[in-house]
Amino acid sequence: MTTIDEPHVHDPDALRADMVRALRDQDAITSEPVAAAFAAVPRHRFAPDAPLDLAYDLHRTVPVKKDEHGLDISVMSAAHLQAVMLEQANIEPGMKVLEIGSGGYNAALIQELVGSDGVVTTVDIDRDIVDRARLCLDDSGYGQVKTVLADGETGVPDGTPYDRIIVTAAAWDIPPSWISGLTGNGRLVVPLTVRGTTRSIAFDRDGEGLVSHSYRLARFVPMQGEGAAKESKAVLRDGVAVQTDDVRVRLNAEALNHALDTPKMESWSGAAYDLPDELELYLTLQLSSAARLHASKDVVESGLVDASALLGVPALVSEDSIAYRIRRENEDTGGFESGVVAHGPQAESLADEYLNLLRRWAQDHRRRGAATIRFLPGPAPSPLPQDTVLKRHGIVAVSWH
Ligand SMILES: C[S@@+](CC[C@H](N)C(=O)[O-])C[C@H]1O[C@@H](n2cnc3c(N)ncnc32)[C@H](O)[C@@H]1O
Repeated sequence: MTTIDEPHVHDPDALRADMVRALRDQDAITSEPVAAAFAAVPRHRFAPDAPLDLAYDLHRTVPVKKDEHGLDISVMSAAHLQAVMLEQANIEPGMKVLEIGSGGYNAALIQELVGSDGVVTTVDIDRDIVDRARLCLDDSGYGQVKTVLADGETGVPDGTPYDRIIVTAAAWDIPPSWISGLTGNGRLVVPLTVRGTTRSIAFDRDGEGLVSHSYRLARFVPMQGEGAAKESKAVLRDGVAVQTDDVRVRLNAEALNHALDTPKMESWSGAAYDLPDELELYLTLQLSSAARLHASKDVVESGLVDASALLGVPALVSEDSIAYRIRRENEDTGGFESGVVAHGPQAESLADEYLNLLRRWAQDHRRRGAATIRFLPGPAPSPLPQDTVLKRHGIVAVSWH
């Protein structure tokens, strides 16, 4: 949590000025137009029930609606992430912009960026959210923003083509309407989930498909409706689960759970551990049978699973064995060294494959922004080329430079 200067806690204007300063300091805001938009829009009026310090916190979301299990299905996104995405979008005055996933606040920021000659449409699948966004927008002086109730999977054809489409829920795929709905030099900014990790990717049009301009790790509530993610998940025991979006990977919960009870084999790569975004992307695309291992705090504290699994860690799985990445402090490798924990009858061969990738990463690709991510719509080639992930509407292809 970002702490706010005590004297300001009841003064939204002062809190907003602090927020803009801090977003600049943290390089989330890097341009004057985005700074001016954040300074202009009264963020707290889009979170009328939240305490002011929460509304103006840089990194926390404000809950708006939960599902029957108590999980967030709509939040006001964290200011830091909104700033990063608006910088990625590079919105100019006069543009026509579609936001998928409403709340009101981000649409108001976009309205500030496009100015009075621009047009902003925001669409949400949930009537409560659309109604709430409408009220907040009208109440804050942004009555010109259009609100639409629909599944964003099909876009909002009425306003096409858009100069920018900005998606604010974690998307598992890129439906055709998001590409065809863009102008020829349009940009799509989307939190795309690839092998269990979500990155906000700014995509430009590239022939029939898309090519990344920038990417940043991001967390979002999941997309609902037609485009909702379809992943297979195996709960091994309370607090331990593996999941994968690779249809070729089979998860045998019973055998993998049994593997965890066998002695753990720990090996170290001698290679640096850093740049987790790029490393993770590389691993999940290169591992021959990739899944994601998640463990709860209790399980980690019991010593059964390493802390690397708390937020999910790329795992290599076979029918009855599992290997995943760990790290330890090591000044000789620049601060941290990556390693592998493996369990089960094939622990040694899985650990070898994993360690080789960790070393190859450190040797050949260890650089921020080293990946170019493409989305190629249409039927996937068979067999699927190396470094690609199969989606429903096309493939994600990653190249390294
Ligand atoms: C993180 S919230 C949006 C935050 C908002 N942009 C803001 O200003 O802070 C994500 C929203 O996406 C919406 N959503 C999820 N799936 C959707 C879909 N298929 N089409 C349109 N909206 C969707 C949810 O209802 C939720 O309100």
